Amino acid sequence: MTQLQRVKISALGTYLPPRLLTNADLEKLVDTNDEWIMSRVGIKERHIVDKGVATSDLAAEAARRALARRGIEASDLDAIIVATVTPDMMFPATACLVQDKIGAKNVWGFDLQAGCSQFVYALQVGAQFIATGAHKKVMVIGADVMSSIIDYTDRATCVLFGDGAGAVILEPSDDDSGLIDFMHEVDGSGGCSLYMPGGGSLHPSSHETVDKKMHYVHQDGSAVFKFAVRKMSEACVDILKRNGLTGDDIDLMIPHQANLRIIHATAERLKLPLEKVIINIDRYGNTTGATIPLAMHSAIEQGKLKKGSLVLLAAVGAGFTVGTTLLRWAY
Ligand SMILES: CC(C)(COP(=O)(O)OP(=O)(O)OC[C@H]1O[C@@H](n2cnc3c(N)ncnc32)[C@H](O)[C@@H]1OP(=O)(O)O)[C@@H](O)C(=O)NCCC(=O)NCCS
Repeated sequence: MTQLQRVKISALGTYLPPRLLTNADLEKLVDTNDEWIMSRVGIKERHIVDKGVATSDLAAEAARRALARRGIEASDLDAIIVATVTPDMMFPATACLVQDKIGAKNVWGFDLQAGCSQFVYALQVGAQFIATGAHKKVMVIGADVMSSIIDYTDRATCVLFGDGAGAVILEPSDDDSGLIDFMHEVDGSGGCSLYMPGGGSLHPSSHETVDKKMHYVHQDGSAVFKFAVRKMSEACVDILKRNGLTGDDIDLMIPHQANLRIIHATAERLKLPLEKVIINIDRYGNTTGATIPLAMHSAIEQGKLKKGSLVLLAAVGAGFTVGTTLLRWAY
C-alpha cells in the first residue's frame, strides 16, 4: 500500500456576527429565565446574524481570516468543504458561494451535512485529499446560521443555538504533528429525535409545512441528551484505547458545545480535569458546524493549544452522528 501523507491543520480563522442574543433577551420572547438556561444548558449569550446575512457570509469571513493567518491567497487553495445544516439555499452548495466570495480561482468544493458532528467529518474528508497526495491545501469550514431555522416561540429549542463560523486549512505535515486517528459512527434510528422536517423532498415547502412549523428545528431534548452523554464518552474512550492512551495522556479536549452537562459528563468519564477541556458554550451556544473551530480559537486565546499538544475532538449530533478525532497540534 502507498504510504499516506500525514495531514496537519496549518491555520484557523473564525467569525461571529456582532449581534448578541442574551438570556435576558430570550426572557422577553418566551417563558424562560437565566437560572434555568445556565443550570440546564450553561449558555449565557449567543451571537446571531442580522436579517440578510447568510451562512456563506460567515463562512467567507472565517475563510479570509484563516488565509490571512496562513499568509496565502484564496487562489492557493485546491478545495473548499463547507460543513453546514443551514446552507444559504438547497443549491447551489454554500461552498460554491464561498468560493466566489473569497475569489478562490482554482478550487472545487461541496457541502457536507452531518448535524453537529459535521465539522469533524469534513475535517477527515478534507484530510483524505492531502493524505493521498491529490491536493496540497484544502479548506474546511464549519458554519451555521442556526437562527434561520429556530422557532423563537419554542423555549425548548430557542435557548440552545447560536450562529458562527470557523475555517481551517489542511496541508501536508513534515513532522509528527497532524491528524492521528478518527472514529465515526452513525445511528439513523435517532433521526426522529432531532430534525427539520420541512423543505426537503419528503415535505416540500408549502403553506401547510409553514403553518405546521416544519421549517424549524424539532427536538426530543431528553432523547438527544441521553444519547449524547453516553456516546460522547464511549467514543472518546474507544479512540483513546485504540491508540494505547488514557485521558491522562491528552493535553486538551475540544468537545462540541451542545450542553455543559454533556461536556462535564464526558470529562468525568475520561477523568480529565476541567482545565484540560475547552468550554465556551456560555458565550456562543451551540453553533452546530462551528463549535469545534470556535473552541480551537478559544483554546489558542487561552494559551492552551500549542505546537505538539495532543488534542481530542469529539462531537455528537443529529442523525445521530458521532465523531472523534485525535491530533497533534501543528503550530
Ligand atoms: C434541551 C435540554 C436542555 C432540556 O433539558 P432537560 O433537563 O432534558 O429538560 P426537559 O426537556 O426534561 O424539561 C424540563 C422542564 O423544563 C421546561 N423547559 C424546557 N425548556 C425550558 C426553558 N428554556 N426555560 C424554562 N423551562 C424550560 C420543560 O417544559 C419541562 O417542564 P415540565 O417539567 O413542566 O414539562 C436537554 O434535554 C438537552 O440539552 N438536550 C440535548 C440537546 C442537544 O444537545 N441538542 C443538540 C444536539 S448536538
